[in-house]
Amino acid sequence: MEAKVETRPVVQVQTQVSEEAKSGKPEEHEVKMSGRGVNVFYGEKQALYDVSLDVRDRSVTALIGPSGCGKSTFLRCLNRMNDVIEGCRVTGEIDLDGENVYASQVDPVQLRARVGMVFQKPNPFPKSIFENVAYGPRIHGLAASKTDLEEIVVTSLHKAGLFEEVKDRLNESGTGLSGGQQQRLCIARAISVNPEVILMDEPCSALDPIATARIEQLMEELKQNYSIVIVTHSMQQAARVSQRTAFFHMGYLIEEGDTTEVFTNPKREKTQDYITGRFG
Ligand SMILES: Nc1ncnc2c1ncn2[C@@H]1O[C@H](COP(=O)(O)OP(=O)(O)O)[C@@H](O)[C@H]1O
Ligand SMILES: [Mg+2]
Repeated sequence: MEAKVETRPVVQVQTQVSEEAKSGKPEEHEVKMSGRGVNVFYGEKQALYDVSLDVRDRSVTALIGPSGCGKSTFLRCLNRMNDVIEGCRVTGEIDLDGENVYASQVDPVQLRARVGMVFQKPNPFPKSIFENVAYGPRIHGLAASKTDLEEIVVTSLHKAGLFEEVKDRLNESGTGLSGGQQQRLCIARAISVNPEVILMDEPCSALDPIATARIEQLMEELKQNYSIVIVTHSMQQAARVSQRTAFFHMGYLIEEGDTTEVFTNPKREKTQDYITGRFG
């Protein structure tokens, strides 16, 4: 018997009509970061080809595509995490507020405070919950006093939706929390140094559905104040959380656009094939 070919998108996009849209005003947000003609090489092997992509302020951009297509590689260009990978070379330009982050005067440590990152596997330091969040503000000299520091820690935990769950055990180890709590602790840690952009590389793939829903809800809140870029292998998740979606395939950016458009009316056949589950 022949396999039935499913041609409907595997993702149902919820068409939420926002207040802005109802008022007829476009929901355009300013460009926060942009890649221009980005190529990335690992030794001789090229992983990204001439990628140009904008990331908007106060919204979520999802990077999707099959494993190995270059999503994490592009994400790491945005805060120069590729610098720490031996043999990795980046050409082209990555701008943050119009300034090239690869310019010689840019300090990557400062850059990574402005463009924070959350990884697939929650990676709290083997320190207390308090210290996990206090570490960044302390090394960046953001707190003038102990009270200041405490305030930053509490505020960051609040913003990460974790404070109520941990307020009575701030001195206990961060690694003792559940996976979902650890991931929110890592988000609090990223937030503690006042980032403008938060990069998340498959932040829910190690989490159960309830913890995943909690992180997705948090992203909805965080996008009011931050520019968020998420790599996800879940098209459902991309459709739920993002306003813009970029589809990568074999190192190329195939298509980028409004999430609803990309999932319901893709311009390229490759995108259509991917979202209908023909490959990936
Ligand atoms: N540290 C590395 N060293 C060598 N090759 C790498 C490294 N990281 C990624 N690659 C290669 O670059 C390509 C893109 O990888 P990656 O960005 O991790 O893809 P994705 O996140 O979409 O799964 C793949 O071919 C992968 O094998
Ligand atoms: Mg990846």
